[in-house]
Amino acid sequence: MVEPNVRTLRGAGIAGTGAAVPEGILNNFDLEKMVDTSNEWIVERTGIRERRIARDGELTSDLAARAARLALDDAAVSAEDVDLVIVATVTPDMPFPSCACVVQGKIGASKAAAFDIGAGCTGFVYALSLAHSLVAARRYSNVLVIGAETLSRIVNWRDRNTCVLFGDGAGAALVRPLEHGDGVIACILGADGTRGDLLTLPGGGSAHPASHDTVDQGLHYIHMQGNQVYRFAVRTMVDATREVLDKAGLAEDDIDLVIPHQANQRLLDLAAERLGAPEKVYSNVARFGNTSAASIPIALDEASRAGRLKADDRVLLVAFGAGLTWGAAILRWCKDEFRE
Ligand SMILES: CC(C)(COP(=O)(O)OP(=O)(O)OC[C@H]1O[C@@H](n2cnc3c(N)ncnc32)[C@H](O)[C@@H]1OP(=O)(O)O)[C@@H](O)C(=O)NCCC(=O)NCCS
Repeated sequence: MVEPNVRTLRGAGIAGTGAAVPEGILNNFDLEKMVDTSNEWIVERTGIRERRIARDGELTSDLAARAARLALDDAAVSAEDVDLVIVATVTPDMPFPSCACVVQGKIGASKAAAFDIGAGCTGFVYALSLAHSLVAARRYSNVLVIGAETLSRIVNWRDRNTCVLFGDGAGAALVRPLEHGDGVIACILGADGTRGDLLTLPGGGSAHPASHDTVDQGLHYIHMQGNQVYRFAVRTMVDATREVLDKAGLAEDDIDLVIPHQANQRLLDLAAERLGAPEKVYSNVARFGNTSAASIPIALDEASRAGRLKADDRVLLVAFGAGLTWGAAILRWCKDEFRE
């Protein structure tokens, strides 16, 4: 006999969101003074106009904790009631302890377990998918999912191929059980580890332990084959979107808002073109650049606070990143439906 309420899945969804970015702004004209580039080149190829840069001593965990507190406020849940903290990041404060543990301590989520997920820019979608499954399976009830990065700390500010693209920030969402229905309609995740060399930070791990030599060679910086990553991103945006729509049994017209990973305006335009509805594709890449795992939750929080999301709206998230990884999710917006 199945025990009641033990093995049956329940619905789960996002009960609150928050975002935090550093105050410091680095615009394209500042970059013109640092590397051989121009505002025109950057805007034409990427759509990015400025990005936020953490000040000295401002850590990934600081941005993550600020975003987390705002998400908890938004959901009217106290930190002591959080039972799991997941941080998606490629720029934790240090290799260990995990960024999630540092955040758990900073926000006072004393009853929560905590760990990081490393899935590059897809990290938030991976973390959200896992959080949803754990709440649906009744394992946890209040899961904080955070995407947080200080990419400025791993960018080579002399490499024009990469330094113009990235920025710092954090976004968070609290996942809770739902009384009726589900807050995640479908989700797909993928990876191709055979192509991981297209986007790496090679130094500081077991392959190239930190040494004077690794620093001299710049192995502690992002290394990227931009052209190939771009081709991968185009294909992924299209394929992952199709796959998650198929899984949900929905058509593109059924989606109210698309929040793609904010890597490049040309990719966002491609999403808009395929959807035939540019107004449905959220973009803030001009203001923040690519903030990796933080980009989707920052955009989701902005969209929510700007009133772009109403009850039962379907929101499509789609991301790609280092790994290589990709992921997509279709949410049902249900923030106002949460039970105690
Ligand atoms: C990086 C990216 C914007 C470059 O645009 P592109 O149109 O592919 O440009 P290319 O790489 O072909 O480079 C063209 C030229 O511009 C130059 N260039 C690169 N960065 C430049 C910059 N910031 N300013 C001026 N010129 C630049 C290159 O050196 C190259 O010059 P060359 O032909 O003399 O060698 C693009 O490839 C991209 O967006 N890739 C995906 C990156 C990404 O999203 N990464 C994160 C994934 S999560």
